[in-house]
Amino acid sequence: MTQAVSEPTGPGAGSVGPQPTSAGSAPPSAGPGAGSAAWRPGSSARRADRPLPILRVQDLVVRHRTGTGTEITAVDGVSLEVRAGETLGLVGESGCGKSSLANAVLRLIPTAGGSIVFDGEELVGRSSAELRRIRRHLQVVFQDPRGSLDPRMRLGDIVTEALKVHGMNSRRERRSIAAERLTEVGLDPSLAHRRPAQLSGGQQQRVAVARALVTQPRLVVLDEPVSALDVSVQAQVINLLQDMQQAHAVAYLFIAHNLAVVRHLSHRVAVMYLGKIVEQAPAHNLFARPAHPYTKALVASVLPPRPDVRQRLEAARRLAPGEVPSLTAVPPGCRYHTRCPFADVRCRNEEPVLSRIAGDHAGGHRVACHHWERAQAAMPQVRAH
Ligand SMILES: Nc1ncnc2c1ncn2[C@@H]1O[C@H](COP(=O)(O)OP(=O)(O)OP(=O)(O)O)[C@@H](O)[C@H]1O
Ligand code: SF4
Ligand SMILES: [Mg+2]
Repeated sequence: MTQAVSEPTGPGAGSVGPQPTSAGSAPPSAGPGAGSAAWRPGSSARRADRPLPILRVQDLVVRHRTGTGTEITAVDGVSLEVRAGETLGLVGESGCGKSSLANAVLRLIPTAGGSIVFDGEELVGRSSAELRRIRRHLQVVFQDPRGSLDPRMRLGDIVTEALKVHGMNSRRERRSIAAERLTEVGLDPSLAHRRPAQLSGGQQQRVAVARALVTQPRLVVLDEPVSALDVSVQAQVINLLQDMQQAHAVAYLFIAHNLAVVRHLSHRVAVMYLGKIVEQAPAHNLFARPAHPYTKALVASVLPPRPDVRQRLEAARRLAPGEVPSLTAVPPGCRYHTRCPFADVRCRNEEPVLSRIAGDHAGGHRVACHHWERAQAAMPQVRAH
C-alpha cells in the first residue's frame, strides 16, 4: 500500500518530470494555431528532455489589503518549479490566488515572504533596473488582449516594443522582425500598420503572443490567455501556444479554469485551494489518479459527455459541496475541511503538508491530505478519459 511521505517540498525535491518535445524537433505547423485543424484534447502527452528548472518558487507569501482594511494572504507559503521548455498548469477556483502568484513571479506586486529564483537569479529584492534586464526572458500574456495592448500603438510597434526597450536591433530590423513574428502567429504582416481596435479578440491575442515571444524569453506566464475569447477561437490560440512552445523551447506557467485545456497543454499540473498548493503531479497522473478530494472533484466536473455523466457530476458535487470559504476567515487545520466528506478531527486541527506519494517513484506526485488513500479508495472512481 502506498502512503504520502513527508519530504522537503522545495523545488526539485524528488522530481523527475515529464519531457517536452525538444526545440525544433517538431516545427510549427503552417499558420500556427490558425489552421491547426482542431485543438487536440488529450494529445499532448509530451515528455521533458530538459529537466532543469527555469523557475523555482519557495515558500512564497503574497498579501493584499481588502477594501475594508483586512489583510488577506492570497498566496500562503507556495513552493513550485517550472522546468525549461515545459508547461506547468495552475488550476483552482476563482479567488484561490493564481493571479497573485503569477503577478508576484512577474514582480508586478510585492511579496511578503519567500523566494523566486528565475534562471538562477533571485528576483526578490532586485532593483527595477535589474528586473528590466531579467524581464527580457520572463514575459506574460494576460487574459484580456484589449486591456493589454496599447490602443494608440501600431501592431508592429507593439510586437517589437520589448526589443526597443532592451536596445536590441535597429529600427529597420525591428520592422522586418515584426512582419516575421506576425506571420509566425498566423497574421498577415500588412497588419503591422494597424491598431489593436481593428482586430478581433483572437487576432489581438495572437499579437499578444507574438509580443511575449519576440525577445526569445525562457518563461511566459499565461494568465487565462483564452478565457476572454470566443469558444470558436480558443482552440486556435491554444494550438498556437503549443506550436510556439515547440518552436522556441519556451516554458509556460499556464493558468486556466478550463481543465480540459490545462490537461491538453500541461506537462505537470498544480492545484491551488485558498492560497495553498494541495496537489501537484504530472498531468497524466493528476487526471488519471487524482489523490486530493478537491482535485478529484475538479476532474469529475470536466468529464466528457458519457451515458453515466449525470452520475459522475453528482459525484463531483458531493466531493466539493458548498462555497469556497473567504480568505478573510481561512478554516483552521486543512482549509478544505469545511467541504470535504472525509474530514475528521485531525483534519480540523492539523494542516496537511504537501508530501510525495510513496511508490510514485518517477512521477513527482504530491498531495496535501491526511487521508488521501482512504478518500481515494472510498470515492467514486473518476477518470478524465
Ligand atoms: N490588488 C488586490 N487588492 C486586494 N485584494 C486582492 C488584490 N488582488 C487580488 N486580491 C484578492 O486576493 C485573492 C486572490 O485573488 P487572485 O486574483 O489571485 O485569485 P485568482 O485565483 O487569480 O482568481 P480568478 O480565477 O478569479 O482570476 C482574492 O480574494 C482577491 O479578491
Ligand atoms: S486533510 Fe482531511 S479535510 Fe483535508 S482534504 Fe484530506 S481528508 Fe479532506
Ligand atoms: Mg486570476
